[in-house]
Amino acid sequence: MYQAAVLTLSDKGSRGAREDLSGKKICDVLLEKGYNVVEYTVIPDEFELIKEKLIEFSDKNINLIITTGGTGFSKRDVTPEATTEVCEKMVPGISEAIRAYSMTITNRAMLSRGVSGIRKNSLIVNLPGSLKAVTESLDVFIDCVGHGIGVLVGEENECAR
Ligand code: MTE
Repeated sequence: MYQAAVLTLSDKGSRGAREDLSGKKICDVLLEKGYNVVEYTVIPDEFELIKEKLIEFSDKNINLIITTGGTGFSKRDVTPEATTEVCEKMVPGISEAIRAYSMTITNRAMLSRGVSGIRKNSLIVNLPGSLKAVTESLDVFIDCVGHGIGVLVGEENECAR
């Protein structure tokens, strides 16, 4: 069983002014899929804070870190930049797949700048902020990442099906 963390980036959510339905949805899906959700945090859209949390979670060896929010065009949206700074390798395919599938639902999917990448033994995936976007995005990649994490941590090395 892999460990997972959910990090919600929301100025309003962090002040308690908005219920974090998106972060809770990610937690529910992760539990359903057999992940052990060991961290769930809502913080404001602050570049340094986001970096600190991502570093803290990956230093704790949490294998899958999913963020929600802060991927758009607002001046406060800095999740992809913070994620890129902490990652050692980028995994563009996951974010490409999320956007490609999401574009079949709404053209606005192209407005999410989310990225995915690897730091130490952690895969970090940025999702947009809305509950709708989170639900649609999880559908795309959640069943596939287990194999990637297995290879990352050295528990799987056979890719043949
Ligand atoms: N992706 C999916 N699958 N479904 C959506 O409804 N909304 C888009 C986009 N990605 C959307 C989506 C919209 S409207 C925006 S502005 C961007 O995600 C950025 O969202 P964020 O700023 O909440 O991260």
